[in-house]
Amino acid sequence: MSAPAGKKIAVLDFGGQYAHLIASRVRRLGAYTEIVSPADLDRDTARREYAGLIYSGGPASVYEPGAPHSRPELLECEVPILGICYGHQLIMLQAGGAVEAAEGREYGPARLKLSAGVGVFAGEDLERHPVVWMSHGDEVARLPAGFSAVASTEDCRYAAVADPERRIYGIQFHPEVKDSERGDEYLKNFIAICGLSGSWNLDDFLEAETARIRAQVGDSKVFLLISGGVDSTVAFALLARCLPHDHLLGLFVDTGFMRENEGVEVERALRELGVRLITADASDQYFARLAGVYDPEEKRKRIGELFLEVQAQETAKLGLNDADWRLGQGTIYPDTIESGATKHSHRIKTHHNRVPAIEALIAAGKVVEPLRDLYKDEVRRLGRLLGLPSEIVERHPFPGPGLAVRLLCLEKPLADTPDSVAMQNALERGEIAGDADAARIQDALARAHLGFRVLPLLSVGVQGDQRSYARCGALFAEDLTRIDWDFYFDIARRIPNRYRLLNRTLLNVARKSSGPLAALEIVARTPVDLSPARTALLRRADHIVHTFQREAGIYDEIWQFPTVLAPAGLAGSDGESIILRPIISIDAMTASVYRMRPEQLNELAPRLLALDGVDLVFYDLTSKPPGTIEWE
Ligand code: XMP
Repeated sequence: MSAPAGKKIAVLDFGGQYAHLIASRVRRLGAYTEIVSPADLDRDTARREYAGLIYSGGPASVYEPGAPHSRPELLECEVPILGICYGHQLIMLQAGGAVEAAEGREYGPARLKLSAGVGVFAGEDLERHPVVWMSHGDEVARLPAGFSAVASTEDCRYAAVADPERRIYGIQFHPEVKDSERGDEYLKNFIAICGLSGSWNLDDFLEAETARIRAQVGDSKVFLLISGGVDSTVAFALLARCLPHDHLLGLFVDTGFMRENEGVEVERALRELGVRLITADASDQYFARLAGVYDPEEKRKRIGELFLEVQAQETAKLGLNDADWRLGQGTIYPDTIESGATKHSHRIKTHHNRVPAIEALIAAGKVVEPLRDLYKDEVRRLGRLLGLPSEIVERHPFPGPGLAVRLLCLEKPLADTPDSVAMQNALERGEIAGDADAARIQDALARAHLGFRVLPLLSVGVQGDQRSYARCGALFAEDLTRIDWDFYFDIARRIPNRYRLLNRTLLNVARKSSGPLAALEIVARTPVDLSPARTALLRRADHIVHTFQREAGIYDEIWQFPTVLAPAGLAGSDGESIILRPIISIDAMTASVYRMRPEQLNELAPRLLALDGVDLVFYDLTSKPPGTIEWE
């Protein structure tokens, strides 16, 4: 897919997940985008090919040796330029300003104070102070000649700058994430400045992608692996539109990590599409392959590889000739980006669709991924365009490896370090001599009568585009029925900002212990792996949560609701913890936590606590960033 010269915007990829998110967001707002490697773009090409340039965010520091830079001459290309976060800082540096490390790193929401409604802020109400999403450790310290400040936040003097004459704009926050309230408006204004308003849409994508798939597949046939989620279903429907009936075959592999009744429901839904589908029950093979495996990356790798083996077994059984067949996958953009597929992005985790064996097939041109350039919200809209019913396209996303990535495993208790012991002493016992930030946190905990424990668990997070694998902390209240979300979210944000060894904060919402908080002791269960018994327990819990959302009428308010089984329980018992992770998102790149009504939570939590083997129930209070949506 492409657009003619002068009808598209180049997004210069300085790494991180944000380059692609910007590109997709701008497309959705009506202008075609192309991802471009910064060093490759010269001034003449920029002027000839593009109507605008966007410099993306990225994980490096602009002044660090080896940090990716674009050519300074680009600033003279005479097409409008928008710099975002890292891109903004690079423009400031190249234009003659100064960038330095900020006093405190800034992650999460901030209020934007505009001083002028011009450029990308044209028509904005100066009194509004919208929320914007920040994620940076450096900041602009001095503006170059020609630029003036147009917005600030409490912690950032140059949150937005402009040189109206050259039509160069810089913003420190991320307009492309949905948590930036007016982000779409700012991007739309930039598109208008480029003269591309309303020049591209998803119908065009569908036509172009249909032609591309037909050209790629030719006379061969496609064998699609189906996980049961929205992505593979839409991919299947799209392939069904592109290929003759007998050139497409779906394989639904039951890995044993499906949700309750999922296998049956998926089969029914797909057969209704009128496509050919076979089912393979491979759960015994999966459990055998995953016994004694604790590392999350190793789990994903084995699941991905076994998926291919099962496919090979089934292909052999069906007598399909390998040379004629290609492998279809419902991979979408975030999966590709988060496996570090772009040049500068750091690897956050390997997606199961991107394990080495699959990479080899991709390199050989044997894999068809019709949704690989789309984000979740685009996949849903495409599904509707293809005529799929809304119960299918609106289904919450469910990861390919299924419940396996929601069953945390642990081989042995985590080792303490001097830093982790100091953090624990500060947060659990208030030993905070001479530390003003920690004192403020302690004070807030004490005033709200909250206890705090650092849990003996690790989970994945993403802090400033960097993968983090850190511990989580939990708030414990005496009175579990009183829920003050504003307070909890505020403290949940402050704790990981202050203690970098933590990337999540949870709220305990039920526990099988009636003693005083001071006596509460939480220990790791080890060793625990992906056993059929634990999987059955999580499946039960997940089903309770799923049914509850439907009963309470909140399913459509929630974007995704992972329910996690984690090997931490009360001392003297052998139970574990259930963690509830309901989030709101548009594209999975960022997420905020869903606020369940207290009376609903007070109904749901006891149902989970009633399960045999569950000691504690938690609610995850962490936005993305700093936590990821899934726990590993
Ligand atoms: P994270 O946890 O990275 O998740 O914030 C972003 C989105 O991706 C889904 N996810 C996966 N999907 N295979 C998948 O098919 C995976 O290994 C995987 N890991 C995360 C997650 O459910 C969320 O929607």
